[in-house]
Amino acid sequence: YSSTIAQLPPDPMFGLKARYQKDPRDKKVDLGIGAYRDDSGKPWILPSVRLAENLVQNATDYNHEYLPIGGLPAFTAAAAKVILGKDSPAIAEHRVVSTQSLSGTGALHLAGEFLRDHYKSAGETAGETAPPLVYCSNPTWGNHFQVFGIVGVPTAKYPYWDDASKSLDLEGFLKSIREAPAGSVFLLHATAHNPTGMDPTPEQWKKILKAISDHGHLPLFDSAYQGFSSGSLEKDAWAVREGVHNKEYSFPGVLICQSFAKNVGMYGERVGAVHLVLPEHDATLNSAITSQLAKIVRSEISNPPGYGAKVVSKILTTPELYKQWEQDLITMSSRISSMREQLVQELERLNTPGSWRHITRQQGMFSFTGLTPPQVAQLEKDYGIYLLPSGRASIAGLNPSNVNLVAQAIDKVVRN
Ligand code: LMR
Repeated sequence: YSSTIAQLPPDPMFGLKARYQKDPRDKKVDLGIGAYRDDSGKPWILPSVRLAENLVQNATDYNHEYLPIGGLPAFTAAAAKVILGKDSPAIAEHRVVSTQSLSGTGALHLAGEFLRDHYKSAGETAGETAPPLVYCSNPTWGNHFQVFGIVGVPTAKYPYWDDASKSLDLEGFLKSIREAPAGSVFLLHATAHNPTGMDPTPEQWKKILKAISDHGHLPLFDSAYQGFSSGSLEKDAWAVREGVHNKEYSFPGVLICQSFAKNVGMYGERVGAVHLVLPEHDATLNSAITSQLAKIVRSEISNPPGYGAKVVSKILTTPELYKQWEQDLITMSSRISSMREQLVQELERLNTPGSWRHITRQQGMFSFTGLTPPQVAQLEKDYGIYLLPSGRASIAGLNPSNVNLVAQAIDKVVRN
């Protein structure tokens, strides 16, 4: 081995989780990694998942055989319907290529490898020139850069968050779309933007998608929180469906990287899919792309894990379970909303310097609180409250027994 192998720092998310777990303080609070917690701070197995697990495990054909390389067909088909809608014209016209993935991260990795080798930027020949640039929002989920970097796909940033107004920098975003080399890839958070919790409005989405279309770019939706923003799977898929179905736009394709980690709460089971929506029906191209994705899957993981996909496909294809799942999403999203409200109310009651209402305007799992890295460090050191240095807090970690204590600690560090 080389004596110069560099020691890397711990992963920001998982390193934080490890520090939290080691912390002996009783009143510690984990606002780090995005994983739902119930009112008593515990991981929650969704009632729909419990019911589906029973059905799956008690079926006469239950076993642990290999799945096909492309995944469980019932799962990938149902997953496409959840995100694109059950009456999706794209599905009806056989324009969607779907492959099961190791949750959202695996989907992004597959998309990155596929783009690197097969996506032609305008005027270039696929595979013969530099891979396309993937533009990610500034800020974005930290792992995006690493996932594309490791497969040799260069990334760039587009402005997204305006710190002064604590809202979307739409003009900066549009300017970046206009100036990017034609055929670039724009990575968009389908809903519940991570880390800011700030999504474009439908009018803003239309402008963004129109600009991406006008400049010949390819949109890549990262959909990890469908159902977490509004509690409705339909509403939270609005931007994706607008991009795929509105004929005003014309894209070289639309990529969707879909995770079921959060919205089904099966974080460790790695259930996800990548969907590529082609602009028109082309059975030969569809089959060729399927085979290329299969080659990547076969060489890297042979075939995807079965258990989670069986459970999720049971939920997606059983009407009573689907209803229960919709209810579960309301339970999770409304608990998070009420925690946002309680946090802000307590900060307002304490007259904590600054304005805090952006926390209730943001949605999904996270709030981009505006706390600075030194304030975050002090919260961890003095109060055992863990959040990311960027000030991102996973609101799911708040509950009735810690929310006021967290507000009081924030009050102290802000006044310090
Ligand atoms: C997060 O952003 O906290 C989650 O997506 C978990 C992860 O893998 O980083």
